[in-house]
Amino acid sequence: MPLLDVRDLSVVFQRDNKPFTAVDGVSFTVEPGQAVGLVGESGCGKSVTSLAIMGLLPRRGNKVTGEVLFDDTDLLKLRPQELRDRRGRDIGMIFQDPLSSLNPVIPLGLQVAEVLERHQGKKRQEALREARKLLDAVGIPDPTRRLKEFPHQLSGGMRQRALIAIALACKPRLLIADEPTTALDVTIQAQILTLLKELVEGSGTALIMITHDLGVVAGLCDTVNVLYAGKVVERAARHDLFGAPRHPYTHGLLQSVPRLDVERGGRLHQIRGSVNDNIPWSEGCAFAPRCDRVIDACIGETVPLEPAFRGGALRCTNPVPQEVPA
Ligand SMILES: Nc1ncnc2c1ncn2[C@@H]1O[C@H](COP(=O)(O)OP(=O)(O)OP(=O)(O)O)[C@@H](O)[C@H]1O
Ligand SMILES: [Mg+2]
Repeated sequence: MPLLDVRDLSVVFQRDNKPFTAVDGVSFTVEPGQAVGLVGESGCGKSVTSLAIMGLLPRRGNKVTGEVLFDDTDLLKLRPQELRDRRGRDIGMIFQDPLSSLNPVIPLGLQVAEVLERHQGKKRQEALREARKLLDAVGIPDPTRRLKEFPHQLSGGMRQRALIAIALACKPRLLIADEPTTALDVTIQAQILTLLKELVEGSGTALIMITHDLGVVAGLCDTVNVLYAGKVVERAARHDLFGAPRHPYTHGLLQSVPRLDVERGGRLHQIRGSVNDNIPWSEGCAFAPRCDRVIDACIGETVPLEPAFRGGALRCTNPVPQEVPA
């Protein structure tokens, strides 16, 4: 049974008094211990999906529909207090920007300790001892000293590690990481990704990795969901997605990142146009105006998400021909 089962999740915002569908019937599952990627360009609905799962979208004016089953409990139906208890205890979240996620006027140690006090009922001294261990575990050097420091005294990489420590404080069964490495330089990025990988593999924590960077999911995720304009357009096991992407959008994304495993000298491909060129899903495939493989049948009616190769799924009328990976 999946740990998390997101069914037909939609989020509609009111923008300038008009409804705007940011997430449009997204379904996916996460098994215990599995690492699942949510990938797509800026604005495709990745963060809104994770905020909806965590119940962190402002309720006023916005409509969130569908089901978010965690252990068979629909998180969308929980009262705010019940949801707050679940967050932190069962589900941890790491946000994109470590500086704005930490409180600037509270020492780091106390910020980690507070989570333990709140969710595990630990006393201050015990919580601080545990916080020290956690900082140590995420590779923050000299944790005893760092406990007393404020966020601005830490480097970007260390702040991100601190956030991971906070997210892990209550040993959540699911960790949602929204672009956890985008604000960091490349070497620190690699360290953080290695750290996450070790955590997932070592503790059986499930992970949802949200990123625009296919390079990030390549080393980390078992299954990858590619989002476009609020909908899943392709889902596949990592090996299949990288070996034989079927959706022209996935294909385009892959061709636009440098890879070490393909011949050198080729030019990087760019997907033409921008998300502003999309057509509404109700009128066909939203990606059609930018697609290299567009045919007449792509326009006219909504394209369904259909089962594909080895348990994957695909929403495309004219997919890239399949080269079966080994
Ligand atoms: N509170 C809000 N009110 C109205 N529209 C919103 C709100 N939050 C997000 N949006 C819109 O929803 C769409 C999806 O946003 P989202 O933040 O999920 O994108 P994203 O995939 O996370 O992109 P990025 O890679 O830039 O983080 C965007 O068009 C965004 O402008
Ligand atoms: Mg985002």
